[in-house]
Amino acid sequence: MKVEELDFVKNYIRITQDAWLKGWHERNGGNFSYRITDEEVKELNGLINENSEYTPIGVSVPNLSNEYFLVTGSGKFLRNVILDPEANIGIAKIDEKGENYKIVWGLINEARPTSEFPSHLMSHSVKKEVTGGKNRVILHSHTTNIIALTFVLPLDSKVFTRELWEMATECPVVFPSGVGIVPWMVPGGAAIAKETSNLMKEFDVVIWAHHGTFVSGESLDLAFGLMDTAEKSAEILVKVLSMGGKRQTITANNFRELAKDFKVELPEKFLY
Ligand code: 13P
Ligand code: ZN
Repeated sequence: MKVEELDFVKNYIRITQDAWLKGWHERNGGNFSYRITDEEVKELNGLINENSEYTPIGVSVPNLSNEYFLVTGSGKFLRNVILDPEANIGIAKIDEKGENYKIVWGLINEARPTSEFPSHLMSHSVKKEVTGGKNRVILHSHTTNIIALTFVLPLDSKVFTRELWEMATECPVVFPSGVGIVPWMVPGGAAIAKETSNLMKEFDVVIWAHHGTFVSGESLDLAFGLMDTAEKSAEILVKVLSMGGKRQTITANNFRELAKDFKVELPEKFLY
């Protein structure tokens, strides 16, 4: 048995391929991480090498100590993951303190985890805490239409949430807590990681202005589905704006009726 043949790794590779086919991952754009379950870590027994050196993460995530993450490599093309998993993705183990990681499988030839590993890990840390350990996935994609909207709409969570909800009836059910917005920041460091993870306390979708989208979910399917739904909604909005804007739409009261029937709580701040 090889690591690439384990079900959770095969599933991760399929999702990277699906995301590439969506057009969200030009060149090395975007990066994915998955917090591996205890049962799946057992399946890795005998297939990984724990003797590598630790490297500082750059941020501190104590509640992720000793966790294992499947993660894409920095500078690696998502398009190539399916062709050569060991070169383009890897498994990183977090140390006792939650301050360092080591590569125990993959990312061969001195490759490193994504430069957004601090943002991924800080978001995982927050989501592990607020979901009682349920959420295991963070995806970052360069979602074309969401990025386009960040040049046109005010960079305000209330506006983005309401506009995206209005573009497809299922949106408030898929992301009832709404979307958070990080203004343009230099990517790849601790500052943007802190900002993103702060918003992850409230939201499962966090938009990086003029850059892309971070989502969190319980499973790879749910996180991918969330990214897809938000991006499709943005695509509809781009079309609507290109056709001269809305002539009619879903109203705040319509959303209240929807919330009742679908048993979701929609924060009143978005129903202005
Ligand atoms: P990486 O190649 O380091 O994953 O960076 C790509 C990216 O999207 C940065 O935000
Ligand atoms: Zn990016």
